[in-house]
Amino acid sequence: MRLLVTGGCGFIGSAFLRHALAQPGVERVVDLDALTYSGRRENVAELEADPRFRHVQGDITDAALVDALLREERPTAIAHFAAESHVDRSLFAARRFVRTNVEGTLCLLEAARGLRDATGAEVRFLHVSTDEVYGDLETDDGAFREDTPLDPRNPYSATKAGGDLLALAFARTHGLPLVVTRSSNNYGPRQFPEKLIPLMITNALEDRPLPVYGDGRNVRDWLWVDDNCAGVWAALVRGAPGRVYNLGGGNERENIAIVRGILALLDKPESLITWVKDRPGHDRRYAIDATRAREELGWTPAMPFEEGLARTVRWYVDHQAWWRPLRDASFEAYYKAHYGKLGLPG
Ligand code: NAD
Ligand code: TYD
Repeated sequence: MRLLVTGGCGFIGSAFLRHALAQPGVERVVDLDALTYSGRRENVAELEADPRFRHVQGDITDAALVDALLREERPTAIAHFAAESHVDRSLFAARRFVRTNVEGTLCLLEAARGLRDATGAEVRFLHVSTDEVYGDLETDDGAFREDTPLDPRNPYSATKAGGDLLALAFARTHGLPLVVTRSSNNYGPRQFPEKLIPLMITNALEDRPLPVYGDGRNVRDWLWVDDNCAGVWAALVRGAPGRVYNLGGGNERENIAIVRGILALLDKPESLITWVKDRPGHDRRYAIDATRAREELGWTPAMPFEEGLARTVRWYVDHQAWWRPLRDASFEAYYKAHYGKLGLPG
């Protein structure tokens, strides 16, 4: 396999690069990443010595660059992770989400189709989507299945749904051998400290307030990042073309339970919890039915949540040199502006 990964300097993409390079029969792995605020070259530093690995800094919306890279590298498979990924940022900067998540995805699909048409060689395409395209569940609803209608409710999930549907359209109309995964919330090392779990860990380590939105009872289904990568790999290699696979951890937890768990692991007081106004359009609950991935791909998540959370906390304690520089002036400015727009104390 000659693999092109997009967004490989991000949280999940970098874990996937490590996973891919450890698989048999992988001849080449190229990472295309624009290095936005959440893309970190140091996330792939340990891979740079591997002669099979190449990092290219570039934007997936740059059609000329993407075409040239595909013609040069002739990948047999593409795993597309690159995205604007944070719901809160999408509330006030939606245009960038449309550009990367919709136009960028289209650019890659066109390039894969172009390479196939020019060379006659098939390019397997794995599009990384999200369970958030399904919208939201009430506490007593069942779980999302692959045939649950899409009902995205915020700009992030709307643009992910756009990319997801374009990808499936290319499978149908142009016969691209393309598979989509829709996973639940990932957690683990190297997640940018703006998402719930790393934000709470790093704030607690700095004895800063832990901002819990609304009543803290929103539910997410947490999936260990390496379990997601194993599922994405299985779908890339064994998935049926045109098919969607849900990947979920089977770990539904209320946000407040997670925040309390982090404080307990760090031996920090619950007085750090700060209740703040709710996120606009805040989805109540996500839950995944991963029966199809289990039955058709033989995939099951392996990490028990309590162990994964303890490992994640330990990683942030041990890797302060990784995250402290990320909480710089631009990070502070983002939060000040974000809370300002929500009418919250900065
Ligand atoms: P991330 O923000 O940590 O990483 C995104 C990466 O994409 C970064 O390295 C960034 O530099 C790169 N990127 C952004 N725009 C780009 C562009 N225009 N061109 C090239 N590179 C660009 O995100 P993540 O959490 O690792 O998410 C990866 C994928 O998984 C995304 O598609 C996301 O929607 C999906 N996903 C994430 C979760 C989660 O819980 N984190 C859950 C389900 C699905
Ligand atoms: P997040 O990590 O942003 O992922 P997503 O919104 O994509 O599920 O948020 C996870 C949950 O945590 C979500 O219900 C919003 C909540 N949350 C807070 O309560 N406080 C915070 O500061 C953040 C970032 C999230």
